[in-house]
Amino acid sequence: MVDESQSGPICPYGLTRWLLCQSPAVDKISKIKVLYLACRFCMDRETFREQLLAVMKRKDHWAWPFFTSGKIAKERLHFHFEQEYATYVRDFPVMVGWAYVRCPIPEVRRSLAENLYEEETGGLVAGSPHPRLFLEYPRGLGMDVSRFEYVQLLPAAKRYRDFLDEAIRHYGWEVAAAIVTIFIEGTKDDGAVFDPSTAASTPPLEEHPLVKHYGLAVEHLALTKAHRRVEGSHRQSAWKAILDHVAPRRRGPVVRAMEAALGHWLLYRDAVAEVCGLQRNGTGQHEVALSSSPSCHPV
Ligand SMILES: [Fe+2]
Ligand SMILES: [Fe+2]
Repeated sequence: MVDESQSGPICPYGLTRWLLCQSPAVDKISKIKVLYLACRFCMDRETFREQLLAVMKRKDHWAWPFFTSGKIAKERLHFHFEQEYATYVRDFPVMVGWAYVRCPIPEVRRSLAENLYEEETGGLVAGSPHPRLFLEYPRGLGMDVSRFEYVQLLPAAKRYRDFLDEAIRHYGWEVAAAIVTIFIEGTKDDGAVFDPSTAASTPPLEEHPLVKHYGLAVEHLALTKAHRRVEGSHRQSAWKAILDHVAPRRRGPVVRAMEAALGHWLLYRDAVAEVCGLQRNGTGQHEVALSSSPSCHPV
């Protein structure tokens, strides 16, 4: 669990504190102006954490329960896997690499380097590159894996991927690390990093939706097994790096980038739901429109 005891809310800038101590030297109006600006452009650590967690809580798409309860037709499942693969799974190690090369803080770089090494090689835990292990899901389901070499992204998926590339390469190391290690790699349950009592229980592999509803053999869940072993520590170090090292004035931009990522992701998942046979009905609720046979699951 990330230790919050060492780092209570911090008043924006050291400059603010300094100014407040300069009683006679600085007039009241100037102090008020500085405080106003500091509050406007900075965010304390607790607010930062809460806002990031609020974004992650909303990384929860309406269609997911249909995927995890086997309501997507098996013949449409390949759309889900192909789009996931091409939006982020295939290039995830490279995305971690972008955050790594842009980061000026050795402690954060070390954590990113460990994540990068595991994702790219599986050398610490999985025994094989994570993107390659991902393909075991479709392979085990009898899909033509050669399709994954030339995936055409849905328009909303392309916009999500374009946003990721832009944010990760051009918005600074803080945004890159947050988007890659918290948004992409994290889930709506990331709050458990701070409160383990809220952690969702981990069902046995035999209860995995792909096994239960689509007949996938458990040996094809190598990536799931690896993630269960390694992602707990990745979640811890990701949150620690962001909360401990993003400067107060950069917290707002990081939250805004996370919100933008969420917006793109929700639209991307809407498009995947649609191509997998789901649609919203007129009442604002959602329903299975096209599929009838059992099907799917997550990455
Ligand atoms: Fe990871
Ligand atoms: Fe991974």
